Amino acid sequence: MIKKVCVMGWPIAHSRSPLIHNFWIRQLGIKDAIYERLAVAPEDLNETLRNLRELGFIGANVTVPHKEEVFKSLLRHDALAMRLKAVNTIVLTDNGFEGRNTDGYGFIANLKDRAPDWRASAGPAVILGAGGAARAVAAALDDAGVMELRIVNRTRDRADALISDLALKRARVFTWEQMDAALKDANLVVNTTTLGMKGERDIEIDLTSLPATALVTDIVYTPLETGLLKAARLRGLQTVDGLGMLLHQAVPGFEAWFGARPQVTSELRTLVLADMGITEDKS
Ligand code: ATR
Repeated sequence: MIKKVCVMGWPIAHSRSPLIHNFWIRQLGIKDAIYERLAVAPEDLNETLRNLRELGFIGANVTVPHKEEVFKSLLRHDALAMRLKAVNTIVLTDNGFEGRNTDGYGFIANLKDRAPDWRASAGPAVILGAGGAARAVAAALDDAGVMELRIVNRTRDRADALISDLALKRARVFTWEQMDAALKDANLVVNTTTLGMKGERDIEIDLTSLPATALVTDIVYTPLETGLLKAARLRGLQTVDGLGMLLHQAVPGFEAWFGARPQVTSELRTLVLADMGITEDKS
């Protein structure tokens, strides 16, 4: 039987998931496996999900703007997708299609990979933003045993909703104006806002009150070094870029569909960087 998987989104042309999964399919010698892009307009999403099996798919990745809608449409989910009310991975099980969410796994795995000395329990973590990506990161940090979560968001209501929806016990909201207090004593800063992305302006924050031992990371990976990461590097802080989160979040899906656990290697990272037009990995 051909094992066919897709990534569905709108637009989808720039998704790097096919590059990642097809690299692993070749590398691991998985037979009869196909991973392709599927452009799905919002108005066609429900029909596509209904017909997923008939279309020959045994699974899928889900990207912008469909993660919340797919959650609503599928009948079964794992515990994390239930908590986040968002799905980035669909797996055909004995009970039909199941929605899962591996974004938080990817976030933590990237930190473990690139900053192995960082410890969740060693200090407060600051999350900039309170959108869908922030929810996945907040739940993952909470599960990792973070000492305290500080959510800083332009719109306060969204930060409050994030904390109550995820039932976070050790979390507090800070306004953008209270940034200095949020950064004080923190051992991690994560940008989950769209600021810093190609075409958007950079986040403008003063990192002076961050301890010298703090780690700064961004889930934005285009550009690889965002303004925030550059400012942190110039201050001598340790930084981790967001590309690894993309690579690591792909691992559990691949394993579930194809039965082999792939590795995130420097060879894969170089391949994806080349696709982004970056030939030299200086990190
Ligand atoms: P995603 O699902 O990728 O997280 P999202 O749900 O649209 O995307 O969330 C985007 C995040 O970026 C939000 O935290 C948003 O802040 P608001 O909740 O106040 O809208 C943040 N964001 C986007 N543009 C911003 C800007 N110009 N200044 C500050 N925050 C911004």
